[in-house]
Amino acid sequence: MARVLSGVQPSGDLHLGNYLGAFRNWVADQHEFDAFFCVVDLHALTLDYDPALLAQKTLETAESLLAVGLDPSVCTLFVQSHVPEHPRLTWLLECTATYGELRRMTQFKEKGGEQQETVRAGLLTYPVLMAADILLYVADRVPVGDDQRQHLELTRDVAARFNHRFGDTFVVPQAEVPKVAARVMDLQEPTRKMSKSVSSPLGTVLVLDPPEEIDRKVRKAVTDTETEVRYDPVHKPGVSNLLELLAASTGGDPAELASHYPNYGTLKADVAEALAELLRPARERLVELHAQRDYVESVLAEGAAKARAVAGPTLDRAMRAAGLHAPPGGFSA
Ligand code: TYM
Repeated sequence: MARVLSGVQPSGDLHLGNYLGAFRNWVADQHEFDAFFCVVDLHALTLDYDPALLAQKTLETAESLLAVGLDPSVCTLFVQSHVPEHPRLTWLLECTATYGELRRMTQFKEKGGEQQETVRAGLLTYPVLMAADILLYVADRVPVGDDQRQHLELTRDVAARFNHRFGDTFVVPQAEVPKVAARVMDLQEPTRKMSKSVSSPLGTVLVLDPPEEIDRKVRKAVTDTETEVRYDPVHKPGVSNLLELLAASTGGDPAELASHYPNYGTLKADVAEALAELLRPARERLVELHAQRDYVESVLAEGAAKARAVAGPTLDRAMRAAGLHAPPGGFSA
């Protein structure tokens, strides 16, 4: 059976972009593939963060993933730092990737900004840790939003280079990006993607926002000075984003849906309603999960054990392939 792996950083406040770009596919994939999903807490150390909150957010993120529909009886859900093979394989891959290709990553340039001399080295090597996350599980498919495409390309290059130099060790994985809503845009600044770290919370719909809040955010969404509802992401990014959200929620086509709306008001009303309906089951399930912390902890403990059972042998194979002297019992004992 083909294997799937994907991950999310533990912000706790998961948003509609995460849901439509990634989680919805994860939930579908878990029934079709051997699926591994990971809360990537080590990745969260690459930018400023609050150590007093990280552990809590990690748990909340896992809880939210269960709320959106991950089912531990059919998939493996775990925390990255609970599986020590991740940073160990990262080193081997850092010695395979090049400084030049890491420096050229768009996310490094964006997040590092003008401060390239003082950003943490971990921000530069971030995509290599991500490659290790994927390659350890010999994953064939990686369901992600559009913003992760470049990191997936790097993963593929690194895997192919390692295989070429040391013999067939890794599967070269494929990114799975949804057809609609692969890049959900901020409702207030529709030329930038919706993200956890924007200045205006009004532009970000959270997976756990109640319907009134979704309605408020959608009604205040920035459109343009025209009145015509038309799908045209270049000239009408705000309206096109709303049409994509509607299409992703109801299954239609954004350009075709546009013709049903005489004005922005009617479109916004339907988008708000469709989103509230889409996210309702997750919100309801989260209330139940809040009362079951022990259950979430036990899912993660079991997930880590299952993850290590796959990651350990891959690490061992890769270390031996790279020519390292194996200790008695192998590298993953
Ligand atoms: P992260 O935590 O930023 O986002 C998690 C997933 O949500 C998708 N996403 C979006 N999709 C559509 N529109 C948006 N506005 C939007 N914002 C986020 C992301 O594409 C992602 O799929 N580096 C990764 C985490 C990671 C990972 C991995 C992913 C670490 N290791 C291994 C896959 C495989 C990240 O920061 O995602």
